Amino acid sequence: MNITFLEKDRVFKIDTENTSYVMGIVDGEGFLGHLYYGDKLDDTDASYLLKTIEPQYTPSTNMRDRSSFLDRFPFEYSSNNVGDYRKSSIEITDSNGHTGLLLCYESHNIFNGKKALEGLPATFGTEKDSMTLEITLADKVAGIKAVLSYSIFEGLDAIVRSVKLENVSSDTVYLDKVMSATVDMDQDGFKLLTLHGSWARERMMDFREIGYGDTSIESFRGESSHQFQPFMALVQNGDSQDTGKVYSVSFVYSGNFEAGVCKSQFGSLRAYMGIGAKNFRWKLKSGETFQAPEVVMTYSGCGLGKMTRTLHDLYRTHLIRSKYKDLERPVLINNWEATYFDFDSDKLLAIARQAKECGIEMLVMDDGWFGERNDDNSSLGDWFVNENKLKGGLKKLVDGVNDIGLKFGIWMEPEMISPKSKLFDEHPDWAIQISGRVPCRSRNQLVLDLTRKEVRDYIYDRIKDILNSANIEYVKWDMNRQLSDLGSLGLDKESQGELSHRYMLAVYELQERLVTDFPNLLLENCSGGGARFDAGMLYYSPQIWCSDDTDAIERLKIQEGTSLIFPLSTMGAHVSDCPNHTVGRTTPFKTRGDVALAGTFGYELDVTKIPEADRKDIPRQVGLYHKYNHLVRGGDYYRIASYQRNHEYDAYMVVSKDKKEALITYVQVVASPNGMRKLLRVPGLDADISYRIEGSDVRVLGSTLEKAGIVINPKGGDYQSELIHLIAE
Ligand code: GLA
Repeated sequence: MNITFLEKDRVFKIDTENTSYVMGIVDGEGFLGHLYYGDKLDDTDASYLLKTIEPQYTPSTNMRDRSSFLDRFPFEYSSNNVGDYRKSSIEITDSNGHTGLLLCYESHNIFNGKKALEGLPATFGTEKDSMTLEITLADKVAGIKAVLSYSIFEGLDAIVRSVKLENVSSDTVYLDKVMSATVDMDQDGFKLLTLHGSWARERMMDFREIGYGDTSIESFRGESSHQFQPFMALVQNGDSQDTGKVYSVSFVYSGNFEAGVCKSQFGSLRAYMGIGAKNFRWKLKSGETFQAPEVVMTYSGCGLGKMTRTLHDLYRTHLIRSKYKDLERPVLINNWEATYFDFDSDKLLAIARQAKECGIEMLVMDDGWFGERNDDNSSLGDWFVNENKLKGGLKKLVDGVNDIGLKFGIWMEPEMISPKSKLFDEHPDWAIQISGRVPCRSRNQLVLDLTRKEVRDYIYDRIKDILNSANIEYVKWDMNRQLSDLGSLGLDKESQGELSHRYMLAVYELQERLVTDFPNLLLENCSGGGARFDAGMLYYSPQIWCSDDTDAIERLKIQEGTSLIFPLSTMGAHVSDCPNHTVGRTTPFKTRGDVALAGTFGYELDVTKIPEADRKDIPRQVGLYHKYNHLVRGGDYYRIASYQRNHEYDAYMVVSKDKKEALITYVQVVASPNGMRKLLRVPGLDADISYRIEGSDVRVLGSTLEKAGIVINPKGGDYQSELIHLIAE
């Protein structure tokens, strides 16, 4: 890892383990150009790549036609309304109402370590394991400075970027759009991979041609969303796990975003990612700064698998802070699918008693314990225990659960307010709304205007009181609707465009307070399933509920898309009852367990009511969790087959870092008549180590398993799973 600046040629070079990222400054004019990103370059000087001469459109000897040059130059951070007509990195309106902006090099700074981003989640590093380059660009006419920041980490092929803007003029400037990163590239021949979805079917892979113009994804829903994950990758060889170039960009942010690729008239590409411009307008007074969130960029010269493992390692070592990230999480049982709103302490204690007998370690009480919440029509905001349900109060229940020998966790949805609630009766103005308009309800609820300090403080005090009232060791922080009717009584009329981002900053502030005040709390984020499963939230919680769809077969697809970019240790995954509540499918209990093992593992069913045979199988499944969780949590992940793509079977593997142990999960989704055995290529093992396949006498070299594959015999019936444990001899 190294970052250098060649004084003579004015070239910056950022080297990670296997990649280089190069930028150069145009002499005289100070334009900062992107020169290269890809496999590591041995040359320190790549200044010859800097584009300085461009022919103009009409025949001429003038090799520096201004607009022709600006419209082709690969700007590292491109400007607006000055001759580059492509999508810009930033758009502003200055005090005169003008939008022209051209940012040029002013100074730079290279140092060991990495700065925190104020108020925002971000990767972190020490002076020993990380390095940062900051380049300051400026536009003297508009009075704007932009500090572009690039950090790298020892042993990781990732570069994290962010931008901080400063208004150095004497007047107010409006930021109309701020991308956190744009990257100009000459290469073509890529497809764009993104993850789309909906409620109960999050993170499905989509590969698209990149056409001329804009190919993009976005969320303007106030959260990263079910619909699009703030991630994209330019891939050369489709879904190949080990060949072809792959460039990925991910957002460490949980709110509105836009990301995409623009293909110019010349076929060159400009990739971009940042806070979405729609409904965004930030008033930046003289002397103020605006910190844009961070993006993570990776380059792999050998397919998607390398990208996945880089992101997993980066998030595990430089993003997730919780002490639980490296620990086995308690096997929990959550009562949502068991009881929905229809429960009381007796029912919960009965579940806890039975769960304890099965080896389960924590009971999580989900939605419905507060106010008069007997359905989803009321009480959000009234965070007071419903003593009709929890007789004798919360502490009595928690003590009872603890006495049984289980830990206790609780569900909350702090960001919301039900119009039918005491809180709304007292503070109708606390909901996000536009004066004079009836705000759109979703799941019968409105969103609290957390941009207002008094609202934040009130909600935080309620959370704190609840957590201090009993021995609560886990919180599931839910968020069950997306934002609309953006209007805040706490913001002046010129600042209404700040609401969505300020809302996210407020959520981050609340979660920061929570993890600071309760350092031993295990926090799991959630949003109507997995609508806020993003790198931003991982800064606060080591795990996130993956999806409300708990069907093992649907989960194969959802967990495949999720694990493409997020470590398995972060994926909330539970075994639920059948027929599955979302899709009505019936799958073997064993398969449900094997699939949930790929995540945090737990149960989401009424253990007092499930079939006896299933209940008896729980201790075996819990045993497997304890046996394999160190691999799932800390191992390297290899996708062997994709059910999202082949619609027939799924296979993936985790290998310990020392390659002494591996676990392959295979699921035959549909049985075929007259089937043949499958030979699945197993990458990622140590070629020279002989592995024993547990439960058999077979011993085979890692290299053989990679070349010849492992034998998977056809199984009778649909939805059959198999775990294969490889142990180094
Ligand atoms: C969301 C969550 C579920 C459950 C319900 C409760 O949908 O994803 O797991 O907590 O809310 O209302």
